[in-house]
Amino acid sequence: MALLKIARMGHPVLFQHAKAVADPGNPTIRRLVDDMIETMLDAPGVGLAAPQVHVSLRLFVFRVPGARAGEGSEIPPGVLINPRITFLSEEIMMCTEGCLSIPAMRGIVPRFAHIRYRGVDCDGRVVEAEARGFHANVIQHEYDHLDGILYPMRLVDFTSFGYAAEFANAANGDAP
Ligand code: NI
Repeated sequence: MALLKIARMGHPVLFQHAKAVADPGNPTIRRLVDDMIETMLDAPGVGLAAPQVHVSLRLFVFRVPGARAGEGSEIPPGVLINPRITFLSEEIMMCTEGCLSIPAMRGIVPRFAHIRYRGVDCDGRVVEAEARGFHANVIQHEYDHLDGILYPMRLVDFTSFGYAAEFANAANGDAP
């Protein structure tokens, strides 16, 4: 296994529409997925899409840590290959997001509150679930990477976009 280099905002691979994975069971894909999980955990992050490691294919790895699971359950690191998302209601939630391709920053963007998704894993098994809250947030953020969309492109209020440390300082009353 190996840690992969993460592309940062500005690299053209992040703005491409990624191609479907033709053979999810291919050993090359399996190795890529293993390396992406290792890279995500090392960062640390909760999701990592193939375009972020310079591979323009429709797959991402993600996890839902227990502390972020809310009323849902913890989800260990896993992969979603050739995913599809269905929005189950028109309800919108505002999500504070960061991205490994945009280090140290965060922003608040609208996401659908209730979704269903479906894809496959490296064994060709169907992976499908209904998701709400943080789980639904992660899936939509990672899926966007496959379509060349980064979260700042979804901002509705630019004043919510900035350095995480500055927002933390302001919240702690350290700001002038
Ligand atoms: Ni991201």
